[in-house]
Amino acid sequence: MSTFKEILPEQIQDNPFKLIGKDWALVTSGTKDSFNTMTVSWGGVGVMWGKPVAFTFIRPQRHTFGFIENNDYFTMSFFDEEYRDALNFCGTKSGRDYDKPKETGLTPAFTEDGIPYFEQARLVLVCKKMYSQFLTEENVIDGEGVKKWYKDDYHKMYVSEITKVLVK
Ligand SMILES: Cc1cc2nc3c(=O)[nH]c(=O)nc-3n(C[C@H](O)[C@H](O)[C@H](O)COP(=O)(O)O)c2cc1C
Repeated sequence: MSTFKEILPEQIQDNPFKLIGKDWALVTSGTKDSFNTMTVSWGGVGVMWGKPVAFTFIRPQRHTFGFIENNDYFTMSFFDEEYRDALNFCGTKSGRDYDKPKETGLTPAFTEDGIPYFEQARLVLVCKKMYSQFLTEENVIDGEGVKKWYKDDYHKMYVSEITKVLVK
């Protein structure tokens, strides 16, 4: 039984640097029948085009990438420290090889529109894609700090409207 309540984006109490960079998130996308989840620690929240938005950066090699590409929505689920092992698993193993909910014990939950997130999360952002674009080498300005991250494809950036915030 869900214990979430809905709040407005401006009511989120967390520090975004800690929330995304240190606590990490599970980005989950798909449908009830077919979805995937992966850990992210890059990204941001803020305002763009007059809307509350989340910025996420997903490499095209990720199994999750196809789900995000093929669906209008994804979620970002944030957890207490006790779920660190689950987030490590989801950040080092691919949904191509493992059933991540089964392996981690995380329980999928779905919004009334069928968008997947996780019951054990303490905070969930429902994100509706507004804009996406691959980062490119030619657009890098300060190359030294950036090149170490890339042997292959650059991330794709998604700017998404935060359409719902669920909190416990
Ligand atoms: C702490 C942490 C943060 C990560 N952040 C990102 C990220 O922001 N973007 C990304 O593309 N991959 C990120 N990853 C890597 C993916 O989570 C990882 O490749 C995952 O296994 C992909 O799963 P999938 O193939 O099922 O989609 C991160 C991994 C960890 C452990």
